[in-house]
Amino acid sequence: MDNSYPPPADFAARANLTSDAQPADRLAFWATQAARLDWERPWDEVLRWEPPNAEWFTGGTLNAAVNCVDRHVAAGLGDRVAIHWEGEPGDTRTITYADLHDEVRRAANVLTELGVHAGERVAIYLPMIPEAVVAMLACARIGAPHTVVFGGFSAESLAARITDCDARLVITADGGFRRGAASALKPQVDAAVARCPGVLNVLVVQRTGQDVEWTERDLWWHETVGTASTAHYARAFDAEHPLFVLYTSGTTAKPKGILHTTGGYLTQAAYTHHAVFDLKPETDVYWCTADVGWVTGHSYLVYGPLANGATQVMYEGTPDSPHRGRFWELVAKYGVTILYTAPTAIRTFMKWGEELPAGYDLSSLRLLGSVGEPINPEAWRWYHEHIGGGRCPIVDTWWQTETGAIMISPLPGATATKPGAAQRPLPGVSADVFDEAGQPTEVGHLVLTEPWPSMLRGIWGDPERYRDTYWATYPENYFAGDGARRDADGDIWLLGRVDDVMNVSGHRISTTEVESALVNHPAVAEAAVVGASDATTGQGIVAFVILRESAELGEELVGRLRGHVAEQIGAIAKPRQILLVPELPKTRSGKIMRRLLRDVAERRPFGDVTTLADSSVMDLIVEGLAPAA
Ligand code: WTA
Repeated sequence: MDNSYPPPADFAARANLTSDAQPADRLAFWATQAARLDWERPWDEVLRWEPPNAEWFTGGTLNAAVNCVDRHVAAGLGDRVAIHWEGEPGDTRTITYADLHDEVRRAANVLTELGVHAGERVAIYLPMIPEAVVAMLACARIGAPHTVVFGGFSAESLAARITDCDARLVITADGGFRRGAASALKPQVDAAVARCPGVLNVLVVQRTGQDVEWTERDLWWHETVGTASTAHYARAFDAEHPLFVLYTSGTTAKPKGILHTTGGYLTQAAYTHHAVFDLKPETDVYWCTADVGWVTGHSYLVYGPLANGATQVMYEGTPDSPHRGRFWELVAKYGVTILYTAPTAIRTFMKWGEELPAGYDLSSLRLLGSVGEPINPEAWRWYHEHIGGGRCPIVDTWWQTETGAIMISPLPGATATKPGAAQRPLPGVSADVFDEAGQPTEVGHLVLTEPWPSMLRGIWGDPERYRDTYWATYPENYFAGDGARRDADGDIWLLGRVDDVMNVSGHRISTTEVESALVNHPAVAEAAVVGASDATTGQGIVAFVILRESAELGEELVGRLRGHVAEQIGAIAKPRQILLVPELPKTRSGKIMRRLLRDVAERRPFGDVTTLADSSVMDLIVEGLAPAA
C-alpha cells in the first residue's frame, strides 16, 4: 500500500553500499569499520559488554583530531577544501585541510598553555563559525572533553552545564550574526562565569566586533591562537577516553550530560557518514545545516565528515537571511551534492512556496537527508520533488544524542524508500519494537537490542540515572523513549516520543524543564506544559499556568512569563502559548494528566476523564479558554 521509491539505477550503480543486509558477524563487521581510522595501537578486544556498560576497541589508542585532520594532510590532501564557510552577511572563508591542521595545532597549544590537561572539560559557546570546529578538534587533540552549548541557550543554562561538568575554560565569541544583526554572546558568558568559580579563563573569538566587557580572565582568540606555534605533538588516547559531553533534555528539569568516548564514536560517525550519505570525498560537496551545538553538528558536521576527508559547507545564519532563498543560493553557489536538514526546515520551505527553490540551479544535488523528528510523508514528497528534482534518494535518519550516530535509515543505493519511515537498522545495528512486557510487537517502544560502538557511555556524574533512564525498562536492551511501528515488510516507522520530552523544531525540550522555569516566576503557583502538534515546528510548547492570588492579571503578564522562560532556558523553550487556568487536571495520586491538556491545546474533544480526582476541572479549563479559542 505504501508508495516506495527504489534507488535510482544510476545512483545504485555507483553507491558505496548496495546491500542493507545485516553482517553475519556483528563484531567482525565493526572491527572492519574501525579500520577506517588510524590507530596508534590496535585494540585487544572489539567489545566488552557488562550491561549497561560497554567498552569498544579495548586497549586500542588513537587521536580523534589526527584522524579528522592530520592524516588527510599526510596523505597529500592538504589542499582539499574542508570547509566552505559562509557568514550570514555574505563574508566567506575557504579552509583547506592544511589550514585546519595549522589552526587546530595552534589552538591545541593555547589550551595547553592555559593549563588545560587531558581529561579536563572545556565549554564551547560559539556561533556557527569555523573556530567552533577548530575549538572542538583542539580539545580532542589534547584529550580535553568538550561540552558544546548551543548559542541560543541562556546564561542560566550555560552556567548549569559548566557547573555540572566542571569546565575550567570557556571558548566563546563577542557575538554572531543572526537575522541581519550582530547578536551578542559574551554577556551571557560573563553572567554565567560570574557564578562558576571553576572557570579560570575565557577565550574570545572576535566575530562581530561589537563592544565587550573585559576582565582579567578573558583572552582574545586572535591574540593567542593567532600567534601560537603550529608545532604540536598529538599523543594518542585510549579508545574509551572521553571525547565530549553533550547536554540534552530528559524527563526531569535537569538536562543530562551525555558522555561519548573516542574510538567507538568516531568509528560509527565515520562509517555511517560514508554509508548513509554515500560520500565520495573527491567529488562531493556535503552540507549539514545543523548547528554544532546539537549532536547532529557533532557527528555530521565535525567528526563524521572530517574523519572521511569530506568537503563541506558551513553556514552561520538562518535560512531567511538576508532572503528566503538563502539555502538554495548556497546549494547553487557551492555545487552542494548532499544536503542534510530537518523536517521543520522543510515544512518552513513548503510554506514559503516552491517558486523559491525553483529560482535556483539545484541540479548538483544527488542525495537528501532528514533528521530530528518523524518526517511527514507530505513534506518528504515536497522535499523529493521540489528540492531533489525527483531524482535524489532521501535518507530519513533516526538517531539520538545518546546513540551518537545514525542507527536506523535507508541506504540510498540499496533500500527502496518509503516516505515517512526510517525503515532499517543499519548494518551492525539491532533494533526492535517491544510491548510493555518486553516482547516483540507491531506497535510499541523502539529498543536497541545490542550495544553499538557510538553508544553513550553514561550520563556525566550520574550512573544511576543512566541505568534507570535507558536500561531499567527492558534489562539489557536500550530504551530509546520513542514509539515505533513495524510494518508488514519489517520496516520501522517512528511515532514520536513516549515520555515527557517535546520535540520543537527538532530540538528536545523537557516539559518539566519548562514547568520549573515557569514555577520559579513569582506570579506562578503551578504550571503544566505539553507539546501540541504544530504544522511547522512538529510540536509547539503550550503552558497551562495557575497564578498566585497576588499576581496581577493581563496579557502583559503572559508576555513576561514567556520572556522569563527564554531567560531561564533559552529562546527555543519560549512557550508558543500560555493559558491561564484556574485548575489543572490531576489524577487522585496528584499526577498531572498531560494527555487531557494536549487535547485542549490541540482543540479537540478531550478523552477519558474518569481517572481525574475532580472531573469538573476540565470544564472549568475549557470554559475559561472559550473567549480566546
Ligand atoms: C527524534 C537528534 C523520527 C526522536 C539526532 C529521537 C526522529 C530524538 C528522527 C532525538 C527521525 C530524530 N525520525 N524521529 N528520523 N530523528 N528523531 O537527541 O524522537 O536531539 O528520540 O538527536 O529526535 O533527538 P536528539
